[in-house]
Amino acid sequence: MKDATPQTIYLKNYRVPDFLIDNTDLVFDLHKDYCRVTSALTLRRNPDSQNQTAALTLNGGSGLDLQRIERDGQALSQEQYVRTEDALTISQMPDNCVITTEVLIKPHLNTTMMGLYKSRTLYCTQCEAEGFRNITFYLDRPDVMSEFTSKLIADRQQYPVLLSNGNAIEQGTVDDGRHYVVWHDPFKKPAYLFALVAGDLSVVEDTFTTQSGRDIRLQIFVEQKDLNKCDHAMLSLKNAMDWDEQTYGREYDLDRFMIVAVDDFNMGAMENKGLNIFNTSAVLANPQTTTDAAFQRVEGIVAHEYFHNWSGNRVTCRDWFQLSLKEGFTVYRDAQFSADMNSSVVKRIEDVVYLRTYQFAEDAGPMSHPVQPDSYMEINNFYTLTVYEKGAEVVGMIHALLGDKKFRQGSDLYFSRHDGQAVTIEEFVGAMEEVSGTDLQQFRRWYKQSGTPVVEVQSTYNAEAKTYSLTFTQSCPNTPGQSHKKPFIIPIKLGLVGADGQDLPLNSKGDQSIVHPLSQATETLVFENISEPPVPSLLRGFSAPVKLNYAYTSDQLAHLMTHDSDGFNRWDAGQTLCFCVLQQLIENQIAGRELVMDKQLTEVFASLLSDHSLDPAMVNLMLQLPSEAQLHERADIIHVQAIHRARQFARKSIAQALQEQLLHTYQRLTETEDYAPVSQQIARRALRNTVLGYLMQIDNIGVDLAWQQFNSANNMTDKAAALTALVNCPAAQDKAQQALQAFEQQYAEETLAINLWLQIQATNAQPDGLQRIKALMETSAFSINNPNKVRSLIGAFCASNPINFHELDGSGYQFLQQQIIQLNDLNPQVAARLVTPLTRWKKLPEPNRRLMRDALQQIANQDGLVKDVREIVTKSL
Ligand code: PHE
Ligand code: ZN
Repeated sequence: MKDATPQTIYLKNYRVPDFLIDNTDLVFDLHKDYCRVTSALTLRRNPDSQNQTAALTLNGGSGLDLQRIERDGQALSQEQYVRTEDALTISQMPDNCVITTEVLIKPHLNTTMMGLYKSRTLYCTQCEAEGFRNITFYLDRPDVMSEFTSKLIADRQQYPVLLSNGNAIEQGTVDDGRHYVVWHDPFKKPAYLFALVAGDLSVVEDTFTTQSGRDIRLQIFVEQKDLNKCDHAMLSLKNAMDWDEQTYGREYDLDRFMIVAVDDFNMGAMENKGLNIFNTSAVLANPQTTTDAAFQRVEGIVAHEYFHNWSGNRVTCRDWFQLSLKEGFTVYRDAQFSADMNSSVVKRIEDVVYLRTYQFAEDAGPMSHPVQPDSYMEINNFYTLTVYEKGAEVVGMIHALLGDKKFRQGSDLYFSRHDGQAVTIEEFVGAMEEVSGTDLQQFRRWYKQSGTPVVEVQSTYNAEAKTYSLTFTQSCPNTPGQSHKKPFIIPIKLGLVGADGQDLPLNSKGDQSIVHPLSQATETLVFENISEPPVPSLLRGFSAPVKLNYAYTSDQLAHLMTHDSDGFNRWDAGQTLCFCVLQQLIENQIAGRELVMDKQLTEVFASLLSDHSLDPAMVNLMLQLPSEAQLHERADIIHVQAIHRARQFARKSIAQALQEQLLHTYQRLTETEDYAPVSQQIARRALRNTVLGYLMQIDNIGVDLAWQQFNSANNMTDKAAALTALVNCPAAQDKAQQALQAFEQQYAEETLAINLWLQIQATNAQPDGLQRIKALMETSAFSINNPNKVRSLIGAFCASNPINFHELDGSGYQFLQQQIIQLNDLNPQVAARLVTPLTRWKKLPEPNRRLMRDALQQIANQDGLVKDVREIVTKSL
């Protein structure tokens, strides 16, 4: 993994494998400080290979200590194979044979959380993308699909539960208190979907009857102490299974579906066939220890991993350049699911905020890449917002262009035609094209061109002719390795809102909303019989992942906010207004002018608070000022302090102007029902806590409320919101300290709650943030070895506490640089992800720009940099 000049892998160099593996028979003999892995691979030459005399090259990391190697039962001599740092090559291969290898590995020393490793007391694996090669020698590529049989042997007392993919077909005891279980997975799969787990786990069980009447055994395995936190995941799983049958006609295939929760995990969760492995943060939930947001995240991730059983496992990826084939589609599917389970407008707004804040920033930065990248050094660096979230938007646009019926037909064709295959994005688009007869040739550019397209819109109204025209001009900024982009197909959903607030008919059919597939660099749409100048409602539901600009007046925005029939655009009009106001404040702050709050925005907020007929979920979203991170994304130059101060000024001004109404709203929303993580309650809590956040801006008003809420809350959402409010309030620091202590004591045994506690402190915008982080790192609440804790403390500080991270002396950058270098040796993936905030150095003014660059350069100068970190640092410099 340590590599001075990492190799670049190119999509254009893809070749089919020279060999296929029909059967994979594995034995895992788990011992205290090693594991013996015996593998018997039934190999055959690939008839499609160009080279019918090729040697066999198996991937295998340097951690594999080779004990034995045989071909068809005959030991190979030293001359018959070559072992390099990352492979094993066997020459003179017959067309069919069985290669048996035996290796020793050291899971207890594996800190990378790839391959076989230990999380606290249990053994588990993570093989995507290329972790299997650290377990045994293999053709570790997704287009090699094999039938797996795995025998697990371990001490019965310490590891009573032994799990792998598929069905348990045999079990028994061996000597010395050891036992074994043999698992067989009847579905062919690539090695990245392999999993095993061994530990002392408790289980929550349920059943699901499929549409064809099969009973599936559902099991969630956790540590005993977490048995009370599985209900929500189980319910989410059953809802997801039902939904996938209803919506995509997809039924579960095996007789068992298992989820295992582990504390040490690099990502959210993993869709291993029949045996999903989850980060505890993505599966455990309980009102006392889990926030509403975390409840919803659990629901989404459980569904996501379950949906992969079809979009990912039954139909998998040919190579890692096709990653979005499974991830974009599956994120799209889980978003549809969450929208159906909760409020679809709310879900859409949340997703768009996320995309605009983080994916747009990625697409404008040095790591910008297409949804289908054409090269990479380290594939782990391409599990990105672009592949996942933009990839999902692209699938959503296909859906919008084809309509519900054709989209479903296309998905059915895709699944049936490619079941059991490893395919490319082209097969997915091809199936959609075939059923619909829609030409998606130009549309395919969404997969190949990086960068966020910009659409400028201008309007003219001709009173005499009663025509209204909209002229669209699209462009896309240059991105690394790509200039002169060709026009995209941009589905623009739009309507025209009349003076009375009603949608005007747009054509002779009377449609009030249409989807226009913009395809040229410039296009004009003319609407007839328009008897008054309307307000255009553009990009309804955020119908394409673009930046759309239209010069709205604030009156027009106010009109859309109250009348637009599209809920998303009602919210977005408010956001546009907020941006204009904040932009002005930021400019004045930079120029040293006095800040004056915009009256209109305050009035809009006042009317939102006074109209009790409005959906609290929408009111809450509309009261959110764009985050500092989103303002950073929108800025050409990031003036960290000015942005922070301007936004704080706006918050305070709004709070002062609307004090009465805010207080009234806070009181009105006091929950009377028992806690449940259901959308209506979630919305009321969210609005109430947003209001609390505003009230904290006024000296002496909010502190008592927050303190009271902290002490009386019967759920984690209200508790954590109150704690956040106190911690961030200069006038409440005594109480904040007391609350932090009380929280820490109350949840001492609850790892996830303690991680939240770390995160709340990490994002505290009060001065001296870095000192607090460093102090927390010395406590037992933190551990550099646990990715969740690293993300909660270091990650949150560097990515979500800009005012402290960007201290003018560069101390934040120095700190991050040191952490990355330390993690480089422990956990390359976590280290690489931490680099992101530094990669944005070009957008900062001096001296930050230079200091950030220096920090990156110092990382680059390190010896022994893993390629994960090297790739990002090199591309950023
Ligand atoms: N494939 C997982 C998902 O999206 C993510 C993952 C990638 C997990 C790599 C672990 C390692 O569901
Ligand atoms: Zn996924």
